[in-house]
Amino acid sequence: MRIKGLTFGTLFLFLVVNSFSQAQQPQKPTTTGTQPQKPTTTSTQTQKPATTTSTQTQKPATTTSTPQRVTPAAAGTQTQRTVPAAAAAAEAEARRATDDATVDGADLHELHLMPPERGGGRPFMEVLNERRSTREFSHRELEPHIMSNLLWAANGVNRREDIADGEAGNTTTLGKRTAPSARDAKEIDIYILTEKGVYLYLPDNHTAKNIKNGDFRREVLGKSTFAYEAPLVLVYVANAKKMEKFDMATRDIYAAVDCGFISQNVYLYCASEQLATVVLGNFSKEAATKVLGLKNDKALFAQPVGHRD
Ligand SMILES: Cc1cc2nc3c(=O)[nH]c(=O)nc-3n(C[C@H](O)[C@H](O)[C@H](O)COP(=O)(O)O)c2cc1C
Repeated sequence: MRIKGLTFGTLFLFLVVNSFSQAQQPQKPTTTGTQPQKPTTTSTQTQKPATTTSTQTQKPATTTSTPQRVTPAAAGTQTQRTVPAAAAAAEAEARRATDDATVDGADLHELHLMPPERGGGRPFMEVLNERRSTREFSHRELEPHIMSNLLWAANGVNRREDIADGEAGNTTTLGKRTAPSARDAKEIDIYILTEKGVYLYLPDNHTAKNIKNGDFRREVLGKSTFAYEAPLVLVYVANAKKMEKFDMATRDIYAAVDCGFISQNVYLYCASEQLATVVLGNFSKEAATKVLGLKNDKALFAQPVGHRD
């Protein structure tokens, strides 16, 4: 009986255990079903490196990273988007093109720009009345607020506009400038030469990025010796990447016209502040190309700025 009892007990126990383990097994697929969700974990894992890479790409802001940023934007959904999205993509591309400017070495001298003062100045008609070319410069340095206001006046961001992103329902904010530009290409980069170094003005965040240390003003001014004392020389450069949407036939004329607006803004600011300035076609383009490290971009004009006395 015991043996029988044991046998029944064992059998019962075996059946219970077996049915339990079978009941568990169907759950295994569910467990396996959760395993396919592992890819979700893996996908978040893959996203992580992606975000890490993208943040890493922003830091060096160099050549290899930026194409990665552009490729997804250029693909798929973007192509179906309407013109404003194309404008946004162009803006991103333009920023990328500016970011590509090379920065060599550490210990670069910083040019700190304070927020621009958007009020004040002389009455507009008086400013027009005072606008002129001046070819005598004091070597006196420009005050930081003057430097900052001058660059903002030249081609700073004076408003931001939200552009609807077509069917996607998103909006993109574009920084618009004090100077107009053909097809809103914003293709003129402003380089700043001082006694201390060479900088690139970045209007979107109103900063100046150091390109290199050293005084290259005279080298770039070339034969325009009357401007040698000017504490600041602006060099207007047509950025080839930002002009890709222009026909070859229109590139030069658009760039020249857009440059003219910026130069006139500088003239007007100088008139308002009684500073000296003159736009120069006569400067060393070869030296500028070398000093600024330009490859496809073209130095168009230079414009020294300084105190009159
Ligand atoms: C496209 C352009 C290029 C110029 N290049 C030079 C130049 O290389 N050297 C110079 O002394 N002035 C240059 N100027 C300044 C003109 O000579 C000046 O604007 C003109 O004589 C009128 O004088 P104003 O600006 O005082 O009215 C240039 C002006 C323009 C618009």
